[in-house]
Amino acid sequence: MEKKIEIVRLDHNGRGIGYLEGKITFVPNTLPGEIVEIETIKEKKNLIEAKVKKYVLCSKDRIDVECPYYSYCGGCNLMHLEYKNQLKYKKEKGIDILKRFGGVDIKQDVNILESPHFYYRNKVVLHVKNGKIGLYEEDSHHLVEIEKCMLLHPKINELLTKLKTVNFLNSVEKIMIRVFQNGKDSQIVFYPQENIPKEEIIHSLKNSVTSIYVDNQCIYGNSEICEKIGDRIYSVLPKSFFQVNSIAVQTLYDEVKNYLDPQPTDKVLDLYCGAGTIGLYIAPYVKFVYGIEIVKEAIDSAHKNKELNRISNIQFFVGDTKEVLKKENLMVNKIIVDPPRSGLDSKTKEYLKTLKPEKIVYVSCNPITLARDIKELNHTYQFSKITFVDMFPNTDHVESVCLLVLKTKNMNGCE
Ligand SMILES: C[S@@+](CC[C@H](N)C(=O)[O-])C[C@H]1O[C@@H](n2cnc3c(N)ncnc32)[C@H](O)[C@@H]1O
Repeated sequence: MEKKIEIVRLDHNGRGIGYLEGKITFVPNTLPGEIVEIETIKEKKNLIEAKVKKYVLCSKDRIDVECPYYSYCGGCNLMHLEYKNQLKYKKEKGIDILKRFGGVDIKQDVNILESPHFYYRNKVVLHVKNGKIGLYEEDSHHLVEIEKCMLLHPKINELLTKLKTVNFLNSVEKIMIRVFQNGKDSQIVFYPQENIPKEEIIHSLKNSVTSIYVDNQCIYGNSEICEKIGDRIYSVLPKSFFQVNSIAVQTLYDEVKNYLDPQPTDKVLDLYCGAGTIGLYIAPYVKFVYGIEIVKEAIDSAHKNKELNRISNIQFFVGDTKEVLKKENLMVNKIIVDPPRSGLDSKTKEYLKTLKPEKIVYVSCNPITLARDIKELNHTYQFSKITFVDMFPNTDHVESVCLLVLKTKNMNGCE
């Protein structure tokens, strides 16, 4: 039987929502206003997951997608929506999540800062199976062999083409490629499944990249690659986190600086500091910065970055945030947090409530955990403002910078 539904809105994962016989139905690659014939993939007591069989009526916001793998590759999911409407969707999604899960009712105008929407990613992890190289389908280990990806920096696509011609692909399970400074620096890390011919790798790729690793061992060129953000230069080891959109990252860090409003007397804590990037960005404008990060290699990069940028008023600690905060009695008046998608753990939130810095600048790649944390800090900190930054165009993901300020007694209604 033909099942036809009208899409009424998008969910937080970029899927269209319609109703089939009263059941909420999620359909990827659809837009509000569209009428589609669907095929059920999964049916539960109260929901249906489906895919499009035929578009009966298309939205005026739909655009042609040039990527040949779009309908099955798990890399991105909003390429069919015009970019200005992607921004609108992400802004509304962020505001809705803050209201629903954080109890924050935003009255003021909120900005979403854009970025180039194609060829922006500086990093990819490619999978290899039976000598073929590509990306996994969404939520599966089924390989989609690709010639190029429209989100990846052109230099990564060039290296992908080159890798298709080498003889040793069968010995490899996974390949990480990172490209910095618009292609000037590039690094390939091979994760082998068996003995891998290192001499052959070097011979095949030495004219194409500046750094080659096999697992943890640098077998050719520099052990690190460097990226510039504004006036800073950052050296990064393979295991160090680095934001994947080298252009939007400056927009993001400028907004962090703007929200922090750095003063020469400020002492600032940069929690989840990665390779020390944000701390080093703001250090020249404040008295002192402390950075905390759990990955040792990232802290090794942070120390190197301190030297490269000739910045002395910063100190880094390696360890779990909550453990370091417990051990070191760091006295600061402003805090920046940039946690992973899981957000802040409860002990770290307790610490923030005790220390009572005058402001917390919260950088988040997951509005749901941001909303939860704002709610849990709500007794001590007042939500002040938020800016969304589109670090991940053509996907449903959105980054945000949020300012929380210490509540005065008046704000708590105690006086
Ligand atoms: C979203 S990244 C932000 C890094 C950095 N602020 C930047 O802009 O490049 C989150 C960082 O938190 C680190 N991390 C994860 N869990 C942690 C923990 N429990 N304590 C300290 N750092 C942690 C990760 O290794 C990663 O470098």
